[in-house]
Amino acid sequence: MQATCAYLQKLFQDHDWEVETVSGYGNPIVLASYWISAKMPTCLVYGHYDVQPVDPLELWTSPPFEPVIKDDIIYARGTTDDKGQLFIHFKSIEAYIKTKGSLPVNIKVIIEGEEEIGSPSLDEFLISKKDFLSCDYVVISDTSMYTDELPSICYGLRGLAYMEIEVTGPNKDLHSGSFGCAVDNPINALAHIIAKLKNDKGKILIDRFYDDVINLTEKEREEFKRLPFDEKAFMDELDVEELFGEEGYTTEERKSARPTLDCNGIWGGYQGAGAKTVLPSKAGAKISMRLVPNQDPEKIEKLFSEYVNKISPKSVKVKITSLHSAKGSVTPIDTDAIKAAVKALKLGYGKEPVFMREGGSIPIVNTFKELLGADTILLGFGLPNENAHSPNENLNLNNFHRGILSIAYYYNELSKIKN
Ligand code: BES
Ligand code: MN
Ligand code: MN
Repeated sequence: MQATCAYLQKLFQDHDWEVETVSGYGNPIVLASYWISAKMPTCLVYGHYDVQPVDPLELWTSPPFEPVIKDDIIYARGTTDDKGQLFIHFKSIEAYIKTKGSLPVNIKVIIEGEEEIGSPSLDEFLISKKDFLSCDYVVISDTSMYTDELPSICYGLRGLAYMEIEVTGPNKDLHSGSFGCAVDNPINALAHIIAKLKNDKGKILIDRFYDDVINLTEKEREEFKRLPFDEKAFMDELDVEELFGEEGYTTEERKSARPTLDCNGIWGGYQGAGAKTVLPSKAGAKISMRLVPNQDPEKIEKLFSEYVNKISPKSVKVKITSLHSAKGSVTPIDTDAIKAAVKALKLGYGKEPVFMREGGSIPIVNTFKELLGADTILLGFGLPNENAHSPNENLNLNNFHRGILSIAYYYNELSKIKN
């Protein structure tokens, strides 16, 4: 993390940007700007230099922090999420200045190191630097294209409420022969709790969970149907025989525009080889809920806690903690900034882009809107199968290069917008 920060600081410095590395708000934040003129529009580019842990390390075919290029694909942790995608902006700007002598817009760059843990300190930082960060548009490349060769504009991200449940039974592990059927088993109790969070048709059972969900409009549902989704190929790639999710919605709708609830991890009892007849003292689970834009994560955390307390048996103690949360976002698509993005991607790829929503979250996007009043344009150049958060993360170099081209066209198109 420190090496990346130092690298970024030097990179901008060597190219005559104004740059500073700010400490005091969690992992250091790199702020850089290339100012041309107050007459020109200002773009804020956001990215993150933190990455997800690399484990399981043994499944990587090359070391995660030593980039390797094979068949025009670059492999390393952070290539698609998000260092490689962020670098597209740097390279695009560098090329623009080299070719034209200057830039058509003012650029401010903010690169944080805590996105993957929910950006816990960034709101406070943005508030303290509100004036410095004022801008007309925010541009982020940290999402995926719909498929390879299909340039995409992402106009929606989901929010997140991430919870942990710890269930405690007896004050120590017990012999399951002597105590089984007399004392409740925290793993069994936890399994019952988890089973009651969702029904077998994928509907979340937490009281009032869906209250603030905005339903998809007919027009949106029509748009979704136009995306070239190949359900069979999707299943084949994942080796699953059947898909699962909320009844009444297509897979595409469920993946990005409906809320979900998933158990992300579960533990308790004996995990080693062979058998051990034990009635464990503790069990736990990590549970995340992806939210749609109008749902408030704090309210959902509260509803989750109330419901889990209500369904928990009295025979165990249940502790619920919230690990992190993020609000979702939608960007209106009838704006000049989006029209400029359509033109730029058409020039960069020679193809009409599609509009899509992503199921993942970028917590700060909502703050950019609330605090700076700026819409975020999400121009992603990753691909859905580039193993983000997983072993052998990679980025296709064709999209890296087309991304550089498209972003240069984008800054150019933005400079033509009349306010
Ligand atoms: N770049 C992703 C967001 C993303 C995910 C975009 C999937 C498109 C598709 C981002 O780095 C990320 O992983 N976000 C976390 C946020 C969380 C830890 C608060 C996520 O979505 O799990
Ligand atoms: Mn990311
Ligand atoms: Mn990520």
